[in-house]
Amino acid sequence: MGSTTDLPSASSPSLTLTHPSTTELPQIWAANHHMWGAALTQEAYIARERYLTTIPLAKNSGLTHWILTTSSPPSSSSSRPILSSCESLRKPALAVSPSGEVTEGIAHGIASVFTSPEYRGKGYASRMMKELGPRLENWQADEQHPSLFSVLYSDIGKQFYAKNGWAAFESAHLSFPPVHETPSVPSDSQAQPIIGFDSLEELCAKDEELLRAVLVRRAKESGRTAVALAPSLDQILWHLYREDFVTNAIFNRTPSIRGAVYGSPGKRVWALWMRGYYGGIEKIEGNTLHILRFVLEDEGSDEEYLARGVKEIVEIAQKEAAEWKIAEVQVWNPGEKLKALVGRSGVKFDFVDRDKDSIASLMWYGEGKTADVDWVYNENAIFWT
Ligand SMILES: CC(C)(COP(=O)(O)OP(=O)(O)OC[C@H]1O[C@@H](n2cnc3c(N)ncnc32)[C@H](O)[C@@H]1OP(=O)(O)O)[C@@H](O)C(=O)NCCC(=O)NCCS
Repeated sequence: MGSTTDLPSASSPSLTLTHPSTTELPQIWAANHHMWGAALTQEAYIARERYLTTIPLAKNSGLTHWILTTSSPPSSSSSRPILSSCESLRKPALAVSPSGEVTEGIAHGIASVFTSPEYRGKGYASRMMKELGPRLENWQADEQHPSLFSVLYSDIGKQFYAKNGWAAFESAHLSFPPVHETPSVPSDSQAQPIIGFDSLEELCAKDEELLRAVLVRRAKESGRTAVALAPSLDQILWHLYREDFVTNAIFNRTPSIRGAVYGSPGKRVWALWMRGYYGGIEKIEGNTLHILRFVLEDEGSDEEYLARGVKEIVEIAQKEAAEWKIAEVQVWNPGEKLKALVGRSGVKFDFVDRDKDSIASLMWYGEGKTADVDWVYNENAIFWT
């Protein structure tokens, strides 16, 4: 990636935030494979990253790759240094003002922030992020789809991104251990596994409808703007297509159970999940079954009924985790109601407050300060890696 002598200063006007060429892109993936692709060979990781540009949410330029480099473009006979790199993924987003006005727009999720070891500690990632924040305010936005905010999940604590404009938000999760199935014990579970993708469209539409009502209520009650990434079908499919690629590479098969549902429409309790492999199957610590959405269609239902639904769904997730070589099931930033129901359900769990990994961080592009924004559903995270 070029010589490290005579490197420009991070404040040099000769630096620019731009996009990698088609030959630079695989070089970036090869360089960061050890960070985010440990479960895959380098070849499979590069193939996955390429595949990820073609799937729902990311296709049609939803995914943008960014580099900080010198102004001169590469030619066939020369290369330019990739001083730092990252990517952004466009997502549907909502913002509701305290008066109840709903704005439908977009948000960008930033990920894979990376500086090659030989360029580290020189301010390049900071310079890239300082330029990227304002750039994303207008990136792919138009009057019908304004850019509302950008988000990222920091694995390097709260300070680095806060200094560059992304405020850290609550970052906690519920953790459940995997449980191996005991076929000799008959199950009286009424929860049903969600098999395949067929029911996802209806579930996601319901989820979005519920989210809108929650945002309006929260904004009115708190007097603050309530914002959220929309839990759209494409958002969920993005995770599942990615999961299929990775499970296929590791296990030579893909999972069929994508979540579980309990109860009847209007009062259903349901969850959708995704398996994330960080160390492969040799090193399963860290492999996580992420519950992407845990939805109570009617929070006012009988508490015992809800607690039972939560328990049965978690139990299905725990069995899936055991079957798929996963070390824990996680639910990010559960609401108070869900937390109370988990406590009541009798299922074994831990509540973990994170201060270093996957710190939910947001830059708000509307009026007022980022710190004044109420970020709802931030469990709908961008599990990229
Ligand atoms: C994190 C990373 C992108 C920083 O790149 P860089 O070009 O060296 O960054 P800068 O020189 O602009 O800034 C370095 C700052 O990041 C901080 N930093 C770097 N790694 C860190 C870590 N693991 N934990 C906490 N802070 C870290 C440094 O302490 C320094 O802080 P300072 O500005 O207060 O001195 C680079 O170390 C890297 O690629 N790491 C591996 C991938 C990774 O962890 N990416 C972040 C994913 S959220």
